Amino acid sequence: MKGLILAGGLATRLRPLTWVTNKHLLPIYNKPMIYYGIETMAKAGIKEVLISSSPDHAGDFANLLKDGSDFGICLYYAVQQKPGGISNAIALAEEFARGEKLLVLLGDNIFNANLNPVVEKFEKQDRGALIYGVKMPTESGQYGVIEIDKSGKVLSIEEKPARPKSNIAQTGIYMYDNRVFDFIRQLKPSSRGELEVTDLNNFYVKEGTLTCEILDWWIDAGTSYDELLHANNLVAEKVKSGEL
Ligand code: DAU
Repeated sequence: MKGLILAGGLATRLRPLTWVTNKHLLPIYNKPMIYYGIETMAKAGIKEVLISSSPDHAGDFANLLKDGSDFGICLYYAVQQKPGGISNAIALAEEFARGEKLLVLLGDNIFNANLNPVVEKFEKQDRGALIYGVKMPTESGQYGVIEIDKSGKVLSIEEKPARPKSNIAQTGIYMYDNRVFDFIRQLKPSSRGELEVTDLNNFYVKEGTLTCEILDWWIDAGTSYDELLHANNLVAEKVKSGEL
């Protein structure tokens, strides 16, 4: 199984912090944000990871992370010309992941789950996809919202709904079989002009092959100054208590 970390986009919500640097290079307590995704990949047992970023900052990632050997993995780099959406960025991994399954992480998501047992199980699975959710208030309209049955099978996902059907937010952790690239080719841009990850995941919902795992805690550090600060404070607390 191959890995992909998304580190593109314009991060307009965090300006002026992101006028001249990429959001994923900002600090989360004692490390650049991008380290969390890379360490998660290494812990999950993924050996080859592609990092997709924006044209202005791709070189900064290579300067910082080099070939990935410091993390015990092999890193590759891709440039997303324009922020055309999460599914548009996933499409960049088609050649890299040819014939293999793919673990996708959004680079601004901070969490501390060991994905390895689920990755190993998913690798043996015939086909389908798997996403992670987290229980939290979903009325803010900032997240995809997942409805699941008792077995963890996903019944529906809605992108930033005004009236959420559940209290399970879609996080930025996705596992796909290799048909993902065929599904992306069938996507149409949403009203915000992006190829949405929720529309992609809904192909799997329709065929009944999308399952959901639940995380204990998770922060989307890229949504606001407050969430960025919250991520810094929470990680500082967990580092000092030895939990991280
Ligand atoms: O973080 C979880 C949420 O992520 C989910 O609940 C939503 O369902 C999902 O659509 C997504 O929503 P956001 O609007 O928060 O996504 P955002 O535009 O902030 O991008 C998330 C990450 O993906 C961020 O690390 C930047 C990267 N990205 C984003 C876009 C649009 C790219 O690398 N390229 C892109 O074109």
